[in-house]
Amino acid sequence: VEVTLGSRDVARATETAARLGQAYPAARITGASNREAISSSEVVVLTVPFGYIKMVLEQQLDAFQPGALVIDVTVPVVFESGRPRFAEPAEGSAGECVRRLLPDQVAVACAFKTLPATLLRDPTASLDCDEFVCGDSKATRDRAMGVVRRIHKLRPIDVGPLDAAQIVEKMAWLAIMLNRRYKSHDARFRVVGLDV
Ligand SMILES: NC(=O)c1ccc[n+]([C@@H]2O[C@H](COP(=O)([O-])OP(=O)(O)OC[C@H]3O[C@@H](n4cnc5c(N)ncnc54)[C@H](OP(=O)(O)O)[C@@H]3O)[C@@H](O)[C@H]2O)c1
Repeated sequence: VEVTLGSRDVARATETAARLGQAYPAARITGASNREAISSSEVVVLTVPFGYIKMVLEQQLDAFQPGALVIDVTVPVVFESGRPRFAEPAEGSAGECVRRLLPDQVAVACAFKTLPATLLRDPTASLDCDEFVCGDSKATRDRAMGVVRRIHKLRPIDVGPLDAAQIVEKMAWLAIMLNRRYKSHDARFRVVGLDV
C-alpha cells in the first residue's frame, strides 16, 4: 500500500516518512502537506487530536476525493491534572462528529481507536488483538475492514452503524485507564466466542 503521511509541516512529514521507510523497507511512504495527502488518497486516516478535528477538516473540505473513505481514529479523551476524562462530543461520539463535518460523498468509518500507539511504533511487535469497526453502511465498513485486515495479527470486528463509536471510544478510554492502573502501555481487546 502506498502511504502519504500528512502534516501541517511538509518537512516534518518527509523526515518521518524517511524514518518509517527505514523501519519498513518494503513500504512506500512519502511525506506531504495535510491537503496534498488528503487530495491524493482514496482512504484518509484521521489521526489528529480530537480537539482540532473541526478546524483541520473545515480547512480541507474541498480537498477530499469524491467517494473517498475517511477512517476516523480520534478518541475524545482529555487529560486533566494527569487524569484521563471522556469529553463527550455533542454528536455522541467523535466518529459522528466527523460524519457531520464531512460532505455526504465522503464515506466515514471508525477503526484503530482501541489500538495502542506504542505497539504500532515497534515493527517487530505483534498486535494479536481485535479492532472494532463501525461506519456509515455495510459497504463502508467492509472497505475499512479491508484496511484493518492488511495489518498482521489484527482482526476486524464489524460493530455496526457509526453510533457504535459511542461505545468503542469509551473502550479506548477504558484501555487508557487500565494502562495507568497496571503500569502498562499495551492494553487492547480480544473478543472471545465470535466466529469471524
Ligand atoms: N496514542 C494512542 O495510543 C492512540 C490510540 C487510539 C487512538 N488515538 C487517537 O489518535 C489521534 C492521534 O493520537 P496521537 O497520540 O498520535 O496524538 P498526537 O501525537 O498528539 O498528534 C498527532 C498529530 O496531530 C497533529 N496535530 C497536533 N496538534 C494539531 C493541531 N493543533 N492542529 C492540527 N494538527 C495537529 C500533529 O501533526 P503535525 O504537527 O505533523 O501536523 C501530530 O503529530 C488522537 O485523536 C487520539 O485520540 C491515539
